[in-house]
Order: sequence, then structure tokens, then C-alpha cells
Amino acid sequence: MVVTDRTPLFVAGGSDVDLADPQFFTGDRFLDVAGEARRRHPVAWTNPGRDGFWSVTAYRPARDVLRQPETFTSTRGMRLGSGGASVAAASGRMLVVSDGADHQRLRPAHARWFSSRGLADLASGLRDTVEHRLRDLVGRGGPVDVVAELALPVPSWVLFTMMGVPREDWDELAGLTAAGFDDADTAPAAAAERTAAHSAIFAYFFDLLEQRRADPGDDIVSTLATSNYGGRPLTDEEIVLNCDGLLNGGLETTPHAISGAILAFARHPEQWRRLRADPGLLDTAVEEILRYTSPPGHAMRTATRPATLGAATIAEGDRVVVWLPSCNRDEDVFPEPDRFLVDRRPNKHLGFGGGPHYCVGAALARLELRCVLESMLGTVADIHETAQPARQASNFLNGLRRLDVVLDPAVSTVTRAGGPRR
Ligand code: HEM
Repeated sequence: MVVTDRTPLFVAGGSDVDLADPQFFTGDRFLDVAGEARRRHPVAWTNPGRDGFWSVTAYRPARDVLRQPETFTSTRGMRLGSGGASVAAASGRMLVVSDGADHQRLRPAHARWFSSRGLADLASGLRDTVEHRLRDLVGRGGPVDVVAELALPVPSWVLFTMMGVPREDWDELAGLTAAGFDDADTAPAAAAERTAAHSAIFAYFFDLLEQRRADPGDDIVSTLATSNYGGRPLTDEEIVLNCDGLLNGGLETTPHAISGAILAFARHPEQWRRLRADPGLLDTAVEEILRYTSPPGHAMRTATRPATLGAATIAEGDRVVVWLPSCNRDEDVFPEPDRFLVDRRPNKHLGFGGGPHYCVGAALARLELRCVLESMLGTVADIHETAQPARQASNFLNGLRRLDVVLDPAVSTVTRAGGPRR
């Protein structure tokens, strides 16, 4: 009999720390606990006796895990708590839970739409949308919840436009997406509601697919429906599963980067002034936002064979959870990692993951962030928090549920609006 030695144990933060519990992440302890873990045991067995897993909190072992899909597979799920049946249904057919030949076939089917060139046509419409929304928010003069009013609508506008979803369906689909990926409640009834939301999303895209097959347009669903990949067309199930994957990738991450950026600038006003004084820093600012906010809280893998990771011996079948926000604060890689610096360089963050599953939507996410910042530079002089932000209850979606701020108008806005707000 093989005896598995699962040490060191994750002890950072004390015995009340439960990284599998979504509610733990509504507080602000995670980064401190993760910092202690990086120093004491960067790869550690977590939650022993409660469906345990390995936690990777340091940059270098995390990169090793992400770059070795043969040893650390995504095909058995890539997030903690994802259900066995739903992963089994999607494995090998949905990009993010596929490896090897399946992944290589599905990736080009997505990549065409997300290349910088493919996105160029979208940019001006996106700029107008963001600009219009920001002017409205700034013009209101009082506190606004920028999660609901800016961070959620902007990525929805982009993705639904790219997918050819009719305008009248956006609210319904956005609601189903939020319900389908809301993992705050781990009770079976809540899991059943999530499954029901995904079933409704699948049904929606089966209908849209049928329409696009009959009358193809210039949109992602039509492209997936009418092209050959790896010598054969995608099946209807593959198309619908990957539409669901795009909603997850596009609507559950970018909002957290946008609202997280606004909070970071509210708390570091000198960095906002710095960026306004030198817009040439926009590119480094976007990368710093991605590092500092790190929207996905983790990426999970399962070991396909025994492996060594730092001081830990991983057994076949063990789950390995890479805590991305922690890796992005690793002091061995990022000097003064807790500082938010718009001119940070180099900045090889893991905000988009690494290896073959590196975010396929990265260029789109960068474009969205850049558009929001550019618009804000022209419209917003200062950002003030007016209430304690509410964090999302999730170990996967690392970000805010609500953020109330006042956006002080920049001079150009004041002039165009015909007078100062106060
Ligand atoms: C700030 C915004 C975003 C962040 C921080 C982010 C982060 C990530 C990360 C960390 C992964 C790797 C997951 C893993 O290794 O298991 C990933 C994969 C993925 N992302 Fe993003 N993402 C963002 C925006 C988007 C957008 C806008 C889309 C598309 C609309 C998208 C679609 C995807 C897809 C389909 C994958 C799977 C790629 C693969 O498995 O090959 N993401 N993303």
C-alpha cells in the first residue's frame, strides 16, 4: 500500500481559516493569510479531513503547475466546488476544462474573435459606450454604485454584441449568468439553482444557434456554428458549452478588474493624479490593475501522476489550487508587492493565468480596461469612497459586489456640462 505524505499542512492564519468557504472571502484577511503561507509553506495541504487540496501561494510553483497540463490537468475541473456531473459533461468539450488535442482544437475556434485585430472594429463603439456612461455617472453629482452602473454593464455590452445576442435579451442573460456563477452558498438547494440557471443559458444558446445556422451573421455564435476545427465542425453541445464558458470568462472577471481599479485609485489618489498627468502610463497601469486586483481568486488542477512541487509530494488524483492573487503579491517577484504603482515595470503577473490556458480574452479585457481608464482621465478628477465596499462571497471571483463612490468631474466635463457640480 502506498502511504501518501501530505505535508506541510496549511496553518497560516490559524485554524479558523477555511479557504473552501466562500464567506471567508467577504472579509479582508485573505491576502494577509496568503502572505504568511508564502513565507511558511508556499505549497501546503489544506483542509485535511474535509475534502483536502494543495494550496499554492507562491509565484514560481504556481507557474510550474499552470505550464504542465500533462501533470496538472484541467479536465477534472478548474475551480474548487465545481460539481462532478457538470465537469464530466463539459470536460474535453469546453475550452477551459480541456487539455491536449481537445484544447488545441477548441482554442482557435475562440482565438479569431479575441485577437487585437479582431477587436479593432469594436473599439470605437466600446469607447462611445463607456464615455456616455461615465458622463452620466459624473453628471449625477452624488454617490453611485460603480459595480452596478459601470463595471457590470460595460463587459456585457461588449460580449453580447460580439455574440450577436439581441438587445432585448441582455438583461435576462446577464441575470442568468450572475445566478449560474454565484457560488456564495454551498448548500445543495443553491447548487440546484445554479444548475437550473446554466440549463436556461444552454437552452437560450441552442435557440440562438439554430437561428444563426439558418441566417449566419458576423458574430461569435455564427463563426462557431459554421466553421471547421481540427477537420470537423463543432457539435451543438460544444458550441453551447463554450458560449456558457465565454459568459463566465467575460462577465465574471472584467467587472472585478474595473471596480477594483476604481477602488485602488480612490485609495491611492496620487496614482490617479500621476496617470492623469502622464497618460503614456496607461499600458503599465492596466497591467498593474490586473496584478493588483487579480479577478480570478484561483485556478485549480488535478495531478495525473505523482509530482514534486517545492517541498511537497503530490499524489496522483490530488487537487492543486493556485491562488492567483497571492502569487501576484509574491515579494520574490514583485518589489513592494502591496503597493499599487501605475508605472510598475517589469510586471509579469499571473492575472491571466499561464501556460496553454492563458486567458483567451486577454486582449479584450485589456481593451475594456484601457477604454474605461481613457474615458475616466477626461471626465474624472478625483474618486471618493462613500461607504465600505462589499466584497463578493466567493473563493473564485475575487472582487466587489458593491462600490459606492463620488466621481468629481474633471475640468473638461465641467466646461462641457455648462457649470461645476457643486
Ligand atoms: C480582467 C479580465 C480577465 C481576467 C483577469 C481573466 C483571467 C483568466 C484566467 C486566470 C484564465 C486561466 C484559467 C485557468 O488557467 O484555468 C482565463 C481563461 C479564460 N478566459 Fe479570461 N480573464 C478575463 C477576461 C476574459 C474575457 C473578456 C473573456 C472572453 C470574453 C475571457 C475568456 C476566457 C476563456 C474562454 C478562458 C479559457 C482559456 C483556455 O482554457 O484556453 N476572459 N481567464
